[in-house]
Amino acid sequence: MGRFDSTAPFYARYREPYPASFFQEVARREGLEGNQRLIDIGCGPGSLAVGFAPFVRSSVGVDVETEMLEAARVEAARAGVHVDWIQARIEELPSDIGVFQAVTIGRALHWFDRDEAIAVLERIVDANGWIAICGAKAFGAAIHGFNGKFHEIRRAWSSNPDETCYHINYEEWFRGSRFRKVEDIEVRESHQVTIPDLIGRALSMSTTSPEVLGDRRPAFEEAMREALEPLSTGGIFDEQITAVAMILR
Ligand SMILES: C[S@@+](CC[C@H](N)C(=O)[O-])C[C@H]1O[C@@H](n2cnc3c(N)ncnc32)[C@H](O)[C@@H]1O
Repeated sequence: MGRFDSTAPFYARYREPYPASFFQEVARREGLEGNQRLIDIGCGPGSLAVGFAPFVRSSVGVDVETEMLEAARVEAARAGVHVDWIQARIEELPSDIGVFQAVTIGRALHWFDRDEAIAVLERIVDANGWIAICGAKAFGAAIHGFNGKFHEIRRAWSSNPDETCYHINYEEWFRGSRFRKVEDIEVRESHQVTIPDLIGRALSMSTTSPEVLGDRRPAFEEAMREALEPLSTGGIFDEQITAVAMILR
């Protein structure tokens, strides 16, 4: 079983979402007009491949894990869009895959072998194409309030409490390649989350996945409920999400 397989049932539903306005804004700013080929690498349950599909000629999602691709197929069917799915590591993408005008990578770059992945990106990104390094997370007061508590509890149960290794400097990562940052696109949106939603979000993360927690999972869920309940209004939180795309050309 891969690192993310046991997170798959929770990922699409509970991980901080990319809002619909995010796809519209990136499409508008980068000129997606229905005639481009897009590939989403480390697609997980397909959030980016599915979200951008209406704006491009064809959308391909690539992931290494079976369960993630199963979840991605469900998400594409739910959204009524066609996406081609490939099970592979980025480092092993076949040479006949061709070139793409748009490449998206969301919350996945830190898992790739840098030198091998850059060689593949140099090959598959069209001369006029771009890469979007994407992410979505809580911002503002939420980080210090319930979200701070959420991460504090999660780290206490995590398989890797020092999660700084997941926070990489993207411009540094691409140094020495032909890709340069041209702009950041940022979209903010508010929504509500419940305590079960936040427990589901924790279970969508590789360091507090059902597999990592094992038979500690009921105690973990209880610890989350106990810590979050007093901070909530009737079990509900208002959360502000920032979705970002760093564009490199
Ligand atoms: C945290 S998920 C990101 C899902 C989605 N892109 C998003 O933005 O939410 C990271 C995904 O990267 C995949 N992954 C990890 N290493 C990979 C590699 N070398 N090649 C392709 N996919 C990889 C994992 O299987 C996992 O599904």
